[in-house]
Amino acid sequence: MSGNSNRAKKLFSETRENIQASLSENGVVILPPMDVLVSSRVLNLLGISAQTTILDPWYNKGVGGKRDDYVEYILTVLNAMQPLSEHVFLWGFPEIVAHFIEKIPPPLQLRCWLTWFYKNSPSMIRGWRSAQMTCLHLSKPDAKMHVENFLNEVQLQKLKHGKLRFIPGPPSVIEEPLLCGFVGRNEQTGHPSQKPVAVIERLILMGTARGELVLDLMSGAGTSGEAAYNNERFSIICDISEEYTAMAEKRLGVRRIALPSALMGKVDGIAEGLEPKKFRMPFKNGRLPAGIEAGRDHQLTFLMK
Ligand SMILES: C[S@@+](CC[C@H](N)C(=O)[O-])C[C@H]1O[C@@H](n2cnc3c(N)ncnc32)[C@H](O)[C@@H]1O
Repeated sequence: MSGNSNRAKKLFSETRENIQASLSENGVVILPPMDVLVSSRVLNLLGISAQTTILDPWYNKGVGGKRDDYVEYILTVLNAMQPLSEHVFLWGFPEIVAHFIEKIPPPLQLRCWLTWFYKNSPSMIRGWRSAQMTCLHLSKPDAKMHVENFLNEVQLQKLKHGKLRFIPGPPSVIEEPLLCGFVGRNEQTGHPSQKPVAVIERLILMGTARGELVLDLMSGAGTSGEAAYNNERFSIICDISEEYTAMAEKRLGVRRIALPSALMGKVDGIAEGLEPKKFRMPFKNGRLPAGIEAGRDHQLTFLMK
């Protein structure tokens, strides 16, 4: 093996350990500010795979500006995320997201068109006042849907005994007010496009079991990290902006990890000849209460509440 590939192997193995340590200690990893196409490539090379990815890019309207190649760009991002996750929840305004419907890259498929409905959007324009955003639930054919996370105790018991005739999954319209003015004041961080935890939580509950992994590589103020933590899931988050990365650190009370500079640019050169290695999820999440059991596939399994 050449000196170069030995060095690359060492670099990747140290980074893997670093990520495992932060997951194990904090339940969440905040990566240093990076472009989504770089962070997704690095996680892929590290052998990380998650059950659920939240993908909430700028919307090609309003904050974040407009780009002519928006559809192609988002498809490139989806292609990059696809090997990393069983479920991908892609956000946008309906008239923009509609362009993706016929173009979803396989093996991802459209599971559901979700709508987040809010009544409290202020508006400066003359015309329809926006009251919804879309979230496309995309997933691989065998991805597990965790409808059990939405059942109450009685329904869970009936399910266990094969007596639940209809499984009442959550509705495809999520009704939660926009974080705006005094609404959700405790949650607001100052990020111009922050989603309520209660909205992201629903997606995480559908796409993961307790102790599983959530990714958000355009994470803004770190809402996915917060929602994952509140629900006893691990998460890895990253945003291109220094300002928003600092916001997420403050909000989650966790410092970003350091990454070797060689992994924060064009990684493919140094990764050449590297053998794929599966990332081992930690057995413990330092922030979770006791009473968890180590299960198959190095995942934590939790007793269902
Ligand atoms: C709609 S906001 C996400 C808001 C987030 N869901 C929350 O609740 O705070 C989009 C985020 O994508 C980030 N972003 C934009 N381009 C990016 C890129 N190329 N790579 C990584 N992040 C990017 C922005 O900095 C912004 O914080």
